[in-house]
Amino acid sequence: MAKTQAMDAGRILSVGEVAKRSGVPVSTIHFYESKGLIKATRNAGNHRQYQAIVLRYIAIIRVAQRTGLSLEEIGETLSSIQAGSKLTASEWKDISIKWKENLNNRIRSLERLRDELDSCIGCGCLSLKDCPLRNPEDELAKEGPGARILERP
Ligand code: FES
Repeated sequence: MAKTQAMDAGRILSVGEVAKRSGVPVSTIHFYESKGLIKATRNAGNHRQYQAIVLRYIAIIRVAQRTGLSLEEIGETLSSIQAGSKLTASEWKDISIKWKENLNNRIRSLERLRDELDSCIGCGCLSLKDCPLRNPEDELAKEGPGARILERP
């Protein structure tokens, strides 16, 4: 079993094989590569080839995206490890601790938003007096662009 895993880790895959195994479209794999999240080499025929470890990286990227992290944030974290290297337990622990903190912040933010929007659901009044979404005189524009109430941490 361990011998099989060791052989698998050194296996070279085509982009089609990576797509099939990871369940991610070829275009997404190319996109991840263009963002520097994964690395490919070229074979003699100039076709992309990937080390099997790329499957782990793609799984990590997909999980991180599901927690709401941007590709930029994911790339920033992954840049702290050697590209294409086998993740050590220590590296994965550091990454998961960092992302857990981000996930907890997002959960708190969503819970706060849910609680604040309780009175708005099904209402639609946008009352300047009572609605938590009110923004008299566009005061929140001073904080920057975007939906300041809905997007605040
Ligand atoms: S929309 Fe009516 S309270 Fe917010």
